[in-house]
Amino acid sequence: MGITKNDYVPEDHNNADINTLLIHSDDILNNRIVNDVAPPINVTTTFRYSSNPDDWIPWADQTPEEKEKLLNHDFVYSRLSHPNNIRLEKNLNNIFDGYTTIYNSGLAAFNGIINYINPKQVFLPDCYHGIKSICKIWERNHGTKVYTNIDEIFNHLQEGDLVHIENPINPFGTVIDIKKYIDYAHSKKAFVVWDATFAPSPIICNHWDYDPDFILHSLTKYYAGHSDLLAGCIITKSSEIDTFLKNDRIYLGTNIGNLESFLLLRSLRSYELRVEKQSSNAKKVVEWLENNKTKFRGNLVKVSHAITQRKELAEKEQDTSFIDNLFNDDHTTPVFSLYLKDFYSCKTFITNLKYFQHATSLGGVESLVELRCLTDPNIDRNLIRVSIGCESAKDLINDIEQALNKI
Ligand SMILES: Cc1ncc(COP(=O)(O)O)c(C=O)c1O
Repeated sequence: MGITKNDYVPEDHNNADINTLLIHSDDILNNRIVNDVAPPINVTTTFRYSSNPDDWIPWADQTPEEKEKLLNHDFVYSRLSHPNNIRLEKNLNNIFDGYTTIYNSGLAAFNGIINYINPKQVFLPDCYHGIKSICKIWERNHGTKVYTNIDEIFNHLQEGDLVHIENPINPFGTVIDIKKYIDYAHSKKAFVVWDATFAPSPIICNHWDYDPDFILHSLTKYYAGHSDLLAGCIITKSSEIDTFLKNDRIYLGTNIGNLESFLLLRSLRSYELRVEKQSSNAKKVVEWLENNKTKFRGNLVKVSHAITQRKELAEKEQDTSFIDNLFNDDHTTPVFSLYLKDFYSCKTFITNLKYFQHATSLGGVESLVELRCLTDPNIDRNLIRVSIGCESAKDLINDIEQALNKI
């Protein structure tokens, strides 16, 4: 077990599978006045207090149970809580098997957890550049020491530090041996946050088996899946920390909005179908690219993905078990990167694609490519990130082939 207390009490759902829970575990909160199947959008920011003056208990005098009731049932103001953020958290608790605090973006979720841990030192592997930028703000404002090489934990890690591990890694689609780092971090009583935004779905992989203290998701990506909302979450097994995070969220002003909650609930219902399709498409596209790499006269220099990483390690007779343990034969990560010969080739390739739109972000039903240096200041300029969507794999492969042939 990680270094945080585990008092998570799962709800009893008669052993229902996660894909059933994604659709039904918030049914219990269905509105009793209107028999709507889809949850409503509650546009109000403020909620009437009880009409019975006996219920008006000053905030400072309320017991934890009374506060819990006010925030989760009666509602006060939508920055604190509102019906659909409660509904989402109820659903996600069951999916992620822990207490979930939802935020208005993935970065807001990281802000929530770094504020809770309040570390003197932070250790990061390769990871999303926005997370690094938050750590740089902490370095500037609080003197927090930031290490951008995760292996520095073996030299410098101390009790109470934060080890933030993204696995698989954006934008490379590669995997790191996360368990090795988590075990070492716990031996030093440091906290580990696993950014599992790119990890296989909890339907095929129990993230808690790796023993992180916290799991972070940018829900903007696969859980939202339609490129139309921002959201993030932190999951913990400790009820005490969960309450702390939700309290801080009130004053950090980072609760998810009403419309976004509604959209995210809608998206959760089809999550499994979407990620299965994206994953099987990605497998076909990456395997095709790897097998046909030499056809493009040196213009396609490298494909970076867990599948190609595995092949390279196996050729050198190195350990691949940490990749095999994360993904089974049918599942892989739908994000990977292509390195082309030069910057001009990247531009020619992108302008000739028909189905892949040139945009940042990922995880949506539509396939995207991004010349990554347009948003990431520290990345190879010849790297194109690819996010595979739910189109037909055949059409995606044909599209990539014709665009590579135009270089
Ligand atoms: C791995 C990872 N974590 C966190 C984030 C931040 O999420 P958001 O854009 O929802 O703030 C991103 C965004 O791209 C990401 O890729």
